[in-house]
Amino acid sequence: MSEQKTLIITGSNAGIGYTTALQAAKKGQRVIMACRNQSKADAARQTIVDAVPGADVLVRILDLSSFDSIRQFAASIEQEFDHIDALINNAGMMPSTLEHTTEGFEMQFGVNYLGHFLLTHLLIPVLSRSPDARIVHLSSLGHLWGNINEKNFRDRSPYLMGVTAYGQSKLANVLFSQELAQRLPANIVSNAVHPGFVDSDFFRNIPKAIYFFWRRVLVSPETSANFTLEMALAENWKDRSGEFVSAQGPLPKSPRLRNARLSQTLYEKSCQLTGATPLTKPALQAQVG
Ligand SMILES: NC(=O)c1ccc[n+]([C@@H]2O[C@H](COP(=O)([O-])OP(=O)(O)OC[C@H]3O[C@@H](n4cnc5c(N)ncnc54)[C@H](OP(=O)(O)O)[C@@H]3O)[C@@H](O)[C@H]2O)c1
Repeated sequence: MSEQKTLIITGSNAGIGYTTALQAAKKGQRVIMACRNQSKADAARQTIVDAVPGADVLVRILDLSSFDSIRQFAASIEQEFDHIDALINNAGMMPSTLEHTTEGFEMQFGVNYLGHFLLTHLLIPVLSRSPDARIVHLSSLGHLWGNINEKNFRDRSPYLMGVTAYGQSKLANVLFSQELAQRLPANIVSNAVHPGFVDSDFFRNIPKAIYFFWRRVLVSPETSANFTLEMALAENWKDRSGEFVSAQGPLPKSPRLRNARLSQTLYEKSCQLTGATPLTKPALQAQVG
């Protein structure tokens, strides 16, 4: 077997993240399940260990709706592990009514995007110590109807069942991945993926009548999980960075993804909002050095 890698998967007690953790355990990788609910995460871990005896799977608590929790998680990882080989920013949600994170951000912008933004920055040192580190961002086809509007970072009215807020958060995921790809050291790559439409708890808030029909087009999480894992582990993804791909199904892309000014402005603003230290683009580093 090739050398064991250490992966962090956010939101891995359910859905695509859980299946990604399970498949990674089957491949003999060490998985850190970064989840907000201890008992749900312990139960999910136990299911993996039952299915894969000897699986190297750990649970660590991470609530992406709280900067304190994110900082505590990152500090514990830094203390416990020499290096991390892959960070899979998978956790996501789409509440149907307006909710807020601890710091007062609209919940989807805060959890799906900003929490992962801060987490990623705090983990760069431990990722840097891997010779071949990967960051994978779970975005969505839903980025298509997203727009980045600072006025909506904390509030949004009307909330429209969370659909437009979801679009903003998923567009932000891809813009972040692209911007990061330009700023990371050469041994870390960053890519985004649309996992396809997968039958998971994700659609728990949509009206039952709609879900009845919608469910017919949904597929099981295995294909998405395997694809994500390939991006995180396979040799052919080692030198690819800044890409946005689909695990299954077509992926029309928003023209906003070609707006370099938008991704840079969002990046700089997100650093201000989270207190993350900005990564400098190598071209600028060379000028400064
Ligand atoms: N399913 C699809 O068709 C689809 C399509 C496109 C993109 N995606 C994306 O794929 C990713 C995974 O979705 P999924 O379908 O697997 O959803 P899911 O089954 O609802 O799982 C989401 C996971 O995120 C976790 N999570 C939610 N809020 C969190 C927080 N504040 N801190 C930490 N973890 C949190 C959940 O934990 P709890 O169990 O504690 O709530 C759960 O483990 C998401 O980013 C989603 O946007 C999904």
